[in-house]
Amino acid sequence: MNQADLPALKSEQDQWDESALGRRKFLNIILWTVTGISALAVGAPAARFLIGNSFEARAGKWVKLGKLSELDPNAVNRVNYSMRALDAWREVQQTGALYAFSPDGGASYVVLDGACTHLGCIVQWRPERNHFACPCHAGYFTREGEVIEGPPPRPLRRLETKIEDDALWAKI
Ligand code: FES
Repeated sequence: MNQADLPALKSEQDQWDESALGRRKFLNIILWTVTGISALAVGAPAARFLIGNSFEARAGKWVKLGKLSELDPNAVNRVNYSMRALDAWREVQQTGALYAFSPDGGASYVVLDGACTHLGCIVQWRPERNHFACPCHAGYFTREGEVIEGPPPRPLRRLETKIEDDALWAKI
């Protein structure tokens, strides 16, 4: 090796070190950018699921059950509903059934959510037996929604109601 070549070789080594440092910096920037985007992609929906939906669920949505003239005040009226709702971060079509009956001849109405409190099957009103029956695991409820027997742990959910424009509304 020639002595005169040494500074040139050192200079090449420095250049190589500098370019390696540049590549390392560049890869670090890419790595942190990808990590940040991934954290945002996972974290944002999770945060919305944990925080946002709890507020939305509490807010509820008013559903029109029908004109008072269309409801029978002496019977348990079933109304099926379908609406757009948020499930975690996805918008889905939510369907269900509500039951409305009047304890005072039509002056006011009690509205129950037809979703069984065991695993959510829709209960069926049986007028001849004066009770609700769940077809999934033989759960039974009174007309007021109290559990008679079976696996359901709680009464049927009683919904907030209002009468507006001669129609009955319930907050789901
Ligand atoms: S879902 Fe109604 S009893 Fe199980």
